[in-house]
Amino acid sequence: MTENLNPRENINEERYIAGFCKRHGWFSAALKNSNTAYTWPCPSCSIEKKSLSVFGQTVIPERYKNKNFNNYFCECSGQQIALAKCENFLKVKEQNPKSGDGLVLLGSVGTGKTHLACSILTNFVMSQRKSCFYTTAEKLVTKIISTWSQESEKTQDEMTEAFSNVELLVIDELGAYKNSDREIRILSEIINERYARMKSTIFCTNLKWSGSKSLENHLDERSFDRIHELSELVVFDWPSYRGKK
Ligand SMILES: Nc1ncnc2c1ncn2[C@@H]1O[C@H](COP(=O)(O)OP(=O)(O)O)[C@@H](O)[C@H]1O
Ligand SMILES: [Mg+2]
Ligand SMILES: [Zn+2]
Repeated sequence: MTENLNPRENINEERYIAGFCKRHGWFSAALKNSNTAYTWPCPSCSIEKKSLSVFGQTVIPERYKNKNFNNYFCECSGQQIALAKCENFLKVKEQNPKSGDGLVLLGSVGTGKTHLACSILTNFVMSQRKSCFYTTAEKLVTKIISTWSQESEKTQDEMTEAFSNVELLVIDELGAYKNSDREIRILSEIINERYARMKSTIFCTNLKWSGSKSLENHLDERSFDRIHELSELVVFDWPSYRGKK
């Protein structure tokens, strides 16, 4: 990650005292000319700590921690377009965090959807003080259902709130399994709540957009409409990268 450390020149040192984090680089650590001795911790470390305490998981799964835009290689124009759209999504989101816009990365296995979705998160953790998180649709549903157990530390409302409040959420492998109506209702509640709060969501799926085995058929109508309204569609239609290596 060294090449991705936040540079010192981004700090307004007229107003702030710069602090340094070994993992994330420079950040505004305290107000200059302030009477209080209060200093802020590294904002990127805070996002990671919060993710562990709220979801019991790191923001980005271990396998994708070092994936970034600069190690996504393009050998066809489709890959170039996908990369450019993901980079642009990040840029717009950073400039306008409250836009609520989303992305749908759609295509077959091994084409780099998770790689690019995690690249967006990695960069967002570095540049923003806002929360973000990666989950598969399966894990999200399991986490909500696990709150029904007597031993659960969180209530269903608290867990729903946690997923609804994340500023930028990746929901990966949407439609990888056939979901029951109950599971679709759980997903739908989160999608609709995030829509109402104007929080951005990136969906990754192997399904098609419409027709048989499609996102449209997998989700309930209302959730699909929300996604349709807010998301840019990026189609990944080249052969799997996995076989190549
Ligand atoms: N264009 C690419 N350049 C570099 N690595 C890639 C590329 N496409 C895929 N990969 C790598 O191949 C593996 C599978 O990609 P992944 O993002 O998991 O695919 P998907 O989520 O579309 O199934 C990952 O290790 C990913 O980093
Ligand atoms: Mg994937
Ligand atoms: Zn840090």
